[in-house]
Amino acid sequence: MYTRQSKQTAHITTVALQKGGTGKSTTVHALGQGLMKSGKKVLFIDLDPQGNLSYTMQANPGKPSSYDVLTKRSTARKSIQHTDHGDIISANPQLSGTDLEVTQTGKEYRIREALQPIQELYDFMIIDTPPALGTITINALTAASDIIVPVQAETYSIQGITQLFSSIDIVKTYCNPRLSVEGILLTRYSSRAILSRDMADTIELTARKFGTKMFRTPIREGIAVKEAQALRLPLFSYAPESNPAKDYEQFVAEYLENH
Ligand SMILES: Nc1ncnc2c1ncn2[C@@H]1O[C@H](COP(=O)(O)OP(=O)(O)OP(=O)(O)O)[C@@H](O)[C@H]1O
Ligand SMILES: [Mg+2]
Repeated sequence: MYTRQSKQTAHITTVALQKGGTGKSTTVHALGQGLMKSGKKVLFIDLDPQGNLSYTMQANPGKPSSYDVLTKRSTARKSIQHTDHGDIISANPQLSGTDLEVTQTGKEYRIREALQPIQELYDFMIIDTPPALGTITINALTAASDIIVPVQAETYSIQGITQLFSSIDIVKTYCNPRLSVEGILLTRYSSRAILSRDMADTIELTARKFGTKMFRTPIREGIAVKEAQALRLPLFSYAPESNPAKDYEQFVAEYLENH
């Protein structure tokens, strides 16, 4: 009997929150590196004009970038860079003009469509997004299978989560009905601060209210994160015994339970 083999498709996870500095890029890097350690084929995609992930991964700024993919100047395949620390489609400062430049009908689908032809090359694609809810983040949500939301245990986080979830609802209605929120990840966590613990409880309740979970392991604050980034090295090889490295390891294991 003839059976048609379905092509393998990569699982696409977008890491997003429009609030700045909550650990998005750090989480994308650690998640991708952790998956690579487990033998998975991973593509990192940097959609943030700040280019923090591209810098850490030592991408070459002269090569075609996610900006060229979004504006259809290059294909995703031609924009992949093979660095010592993994494959990446890097960012470019020109991405900051996306909201004004990419306005045509179907603009939300640019990244999703561009990634289609390279699906079978990877097990996972992990997308880093800017701290904003514009065209870039909507593209990343439209392309994704699921979302991870990194938040710090602080007062403004709840507001940020609520705003993000209303955008997610819109994307689910109009662009990507299968999108799911994998979970909220507490980052830069200090268990010694009573306020942090109280906020963690509130964030967990908020997660449940929106039908998702908080990941079991909060990522503790640790100087090794900044040091590794300054040296442009993966956290797991620079400081495998540091608190944040151990926590990210647990987080990757929990992520893999569902993938
Ligand atoms: N667990 C941690 N311990 C210590 N510092 C951390 C930790 N996680 C992130 N940081 C630091 O906090 C800052 C913000 O982290 P990161 O760049 O990952 O956030 P972001 O959400 O991507 O920011 P942006 O919104 O600007 O893109 C960085 O300087 C990073 O080194
Ligand atoms: Mg970032």
